[in-house]
Amino acid sequence: MDLKGRRVTVVEVGPRDGLQNEHVTVATADKIEFVNRLSAANLRVIEVSAFVSPKWVPQMADAADVFAGITRRPGTRYTALVPNLAGLDRALDAGVSEIAVFAASTETFSRKNINQSIAESLSTYRQVCDRAHAAGLRVRGYLSTAFGCPFEGAVAPERVAEVAARIVDLGVFEVSVSDTIGIAHPGQVPHVLDAVLARVPVEKVALHFHDTRGTALANVLTSLPFGINTFDASAGGLGGCPYAPGAAGNLATEDLIYMLDGLGIETGVSLNAVTEASAFIESTLDHRLPSRYSQAIRSKA
Ligand code: HMG
Ligand code: MG
Repeated sequence: MDLKGRRVTVVEVGPRDGLQNEHVTVATADKIEFVNRLSAANLRVIEVSAFVSPKWVPQMADAADVFAGITRRPGTRYTALVPNLAGLDRALDAGVSEIAVFAASTETFSRKNINQSIAESLSTYRQVCDRAHAAGLRVRGYLSTAFGCPFEGAVAPERVAEVAARIVDLGVFEVSVSDTIGIAHPGQVPHVLDAVLARVPVEKVALHFHDTRGTALANVLTSLPFGINTFDASAGGLGGCPYAPGAAGNLATEDLIYMLDGLGIETGVSLNAVTEASAFIESTLDHRLPSRYSQAIRSKA
């Protein structure tokens, strides 16, 4: 399949999905610098933080300060997770213009992550979406455990499609079908996509792969012929999920850009600048980041 000239949107989730799982508390000023560097790399969608309970995810407690400190480039969307109306209030106070709600395909994960059943969460999100839309915000949806659950194991594609459709019914502009624990592989991805695309228009579907088993890039490559044009990634491959045992980093943004550049797919993102942003955030942490592209570049230096 000739993919040259196709445009793909990369949603940078490093400052949120990446940092939320780091044990070292990253200084607010460093988070701001990281987001500004990602903006400079021309990433056009950056998930900056999460207005979740600081008791649940302490690393995201400074969401409002991070939003107050970043330089917002015109044309770039700066987003944040919102779990409930209290989170929406905080996001509105911070002047956020796009948020994301996050539901799960499996009951146990939903309970562990947000302390609600799937049905309860969708009813909470109905209120969040209605109020957010009335305030002029765009809302994205996530669907976790779409390729497997750390607690319940395999998940039927029809179930994933059913919850994805219910999320889209909330009025979100897109649902990011997520491989929370990095278990998806190219033999499975087509089955999940066939089921989801039977219920949700392709332009409303994004994919969010974690790279726990090294299959994230292969999964992207498998998804491109289905017409998926939005992929989530995190600089350096930062990340995980504090409520998903075994969730490793997200697909690394620079690894994704390197592959997409090679395929002639346009993203507008500067590979060098993302790699520099990764090196910066790595310098604030107590371990190396897993991006293969960054490791290759540094071993040459
Ligand atoms: P709860 O304990 O059931 O709710 O948590 P609560 O209403 O009893 O609140 C507990 C305390 O938090 C209260 O404070 C609230 O006021 C406060 P207290 O009275 O004890 O002093 N609180 C808040 N504070 C600030 N902002 C808020 C907020 N809400 C309540 N918005 C809740 C329920 C949903 C709040 C909690 O479970 C939560 O915050 N969960 C978020 C967990 C999380 O962030 N997980 C990671 C993100 S999801 C993910 O990574 C997956 C994804 O990447 C896709 C994938 O890979 O699958 C998106
Ligand atoms: Mg994630």
